[in-house]
Amino acid sequence: MQAILIYVDLTLAVLTLVAAPLAGVKASRLWLYVLAGLAAGRLLVAVLLLVTGGLLLADTRLSVQVPLAVLPAAWAAWRASRTAAHVAAAGSVLAVWWLLAPFAPQDTPLVLAGSAAALAAIAGLSIAVGRWRESRTRLSRLPWLTTAFLLVPATTLALAGQANASAPGHDHGGSGQLSVDQLTGPREQKPDVRVALTAARTQVRLASGATVDGLSFNGTSPGPEIRVRKGQLLEVTLVNTNVEEGVTVHWHGVDVPNAEDGVPGVTQNAVPPGGRHVYRFIPNRAGTFWYHTHRDGLLNVKKGLFGALIVEDGPASGELERTVFTHAWPGSGGDVTALDRDDRPATQAAEAGQNVRLRAINSSEEAQQIRVSGTPFHVAAIDGNPVEGATPLEPGTTLTLAAGGRYDVTFTMPAGPVTAALASTSLTFGQGGAAPEGDGGQFDPLTYGSGSPPAAEAYQRTYDLRLDDGFGFSQGRLGYVSSLINGRLYPAVPSLQVTRGDRVRVRIASRSIINHPFHLHGHRVRVLSRNGEPATGSPWWTDTLNVGRGELYEIEFVADNPGIWMDHCHNFQHGANGMIMHLAYTGVTTPFTDFPE
Ligand code: C2O
Ligand code: CU
Repeated sequence: MQAILIYVDLTLAVLTLVAAPLAGVKASRLWLYVLAGLAAGRLLVAVLLLVTGGLLLADTRLSVQVPLAVLPAAWAAWRASRTAAHVAAAGSVLAVWWLLAPFAPQDTPLVLAGSAAALAAIAGLSIAVGRWRESRTRLSRLPWLTTAFLLVPATTLALAGQANASAPGHDHGGSGQLSVDQLTGPREQKPDVRVALTAARTQVRLASGATVDGLSFNGTSPGPEIRVRKGQLLEVTLVNTNVEEGVTVHWHGVDVPNAEDGVPGVTQNAVPPGGRHVYRFIPNRAGTFWYHTHRDGLLNVKKGLFGALIVEDGPASGELERTVFTHAWPGSGGDVTALDRDDRPATQAAEAGQNVRLRAINSSEEAQQIRVSGTPFHVAAIDGNPVEGATPLEPGTTLTLAAGGRYDVTFTMPAGPVTAALASTSLTFGQGGAAPEGDGGQFDPLTYGSGSPPAAEAYQRTYDLRLDDGFGFSQGRLGYVSSLINGRLYPAVPSLQVTRGDRVRVRIASRSIINHPFHLHGHRVRVLSRNGEPATGSPWWTDTLNVGRGELYEIEFVADNPGIWMDHCHNFQHGANGMIMHLAYTGVTTPFTDFPE
């Protein structure tokens, strides 16, 4: 519903850009009515967004865009003078402009003042030109009026410029009580599992024979599957052979001590070619996790620097386990989506009666749709968190896996085959070709399983995150980016500040037509509601939440892992553009200075 409203709003905005110049030039009642009608349409959409989705989806539309469109257009439709038409046309265009150039809510007065000045200038200009037409006198006020009209672009640039400000949201100095490099895992204890990960340039060969100019850990991509028991100490030594951008290893979904988190510029500096770094931590929850480089993730995760980390609960269960990544490889003719390296249908041997656990991990940048056919099945875990009271899902049910997210799918192997299919390829368990595709509808974690609602306690902190796309300064260049948080780009996005022990509530809204898979490091979060609808199933714990177009999520978490943590969009392009912020504990500082993505 909200997504449709946002599409309607965009359509009205485009029509406004066509109608406004015509209304301005013709100044006829007909065109002014058209303009007023479009403005009324946008007002209606904004109100519906407010009512159905909440204030976070509608606030800057209602405070700035709609008034700028509605008031001048209504006035002009009533007056129908030439000057009124000019002002209405300009107001309508400005209203669209502020849709395309998102701003921080606290900048609303500035935006309104700049826009009002521009409209006043247009009115003055229009009157002056009208007089000049009649009297042929000199236009002495023209320079002033033009300057005034430049106010809007100037305000915009000033606001957008803040998105490029180099003031980071955390302290790089040494004044805090605690530096992140003190927040390590056990340094002395003897490790239970030791792994070496060597990163290097490699040709990655896909099943179809296509090769990718790739990167690998230990010569393969996906890298080796690391297995460790809950409570055991894992030691991983990263060696970078020749990856020029540098490498780190981030343990996605594992709530490691901050210094082991593998974020360049925050918890360490990237490991240069020839360098090494040792990670040590004790995973405290069993489940499906993964690891990937956090340096130049945009290209280097895509090229292959990732692998699975499976934390086992106890002795082997006797299940047939299969881990599979949904990955988009950078092909010569565009991305090739594959299951691991299988870009064509693949099979997995399985016997009837066997219990199967498919661990699906999405290492691509986009949400992936996986349809499981051939048998009823369960989603046994989401992002490594067991689902309570999981019920069987219809064969043919489609699972939407957030970029960075994981689902454990379990089923008992029937006599026939079971197929997990993406749009482009599939994996079939058993023999006899792919299972016939049923249509079991869409899986929804909001209502799946059963469990108790969250405790009704007070929150020590609440935050709102508005995710927008629009014009902004990214890495020194002004461009159209799908990546603003509250009108800002990293590093100018203020951190979420917490103190150890705080219970924190965050509302996150994607206000455009783009998905944002939001990932908080070092903590799992619990989903409370989506678009106002409370979560009623098993407690929905997640670390990577796909905030879909027009969606507003309310989540909570407990600040129980001190440090400076990334909270970012797992679409690496959005991250590189600046859709990154930190969760910062008071008193923690970092000595590192790299860029975190
Ligand atoms: Cu899997 Cu900061 O990311
Ligand atoms: Cu995003």
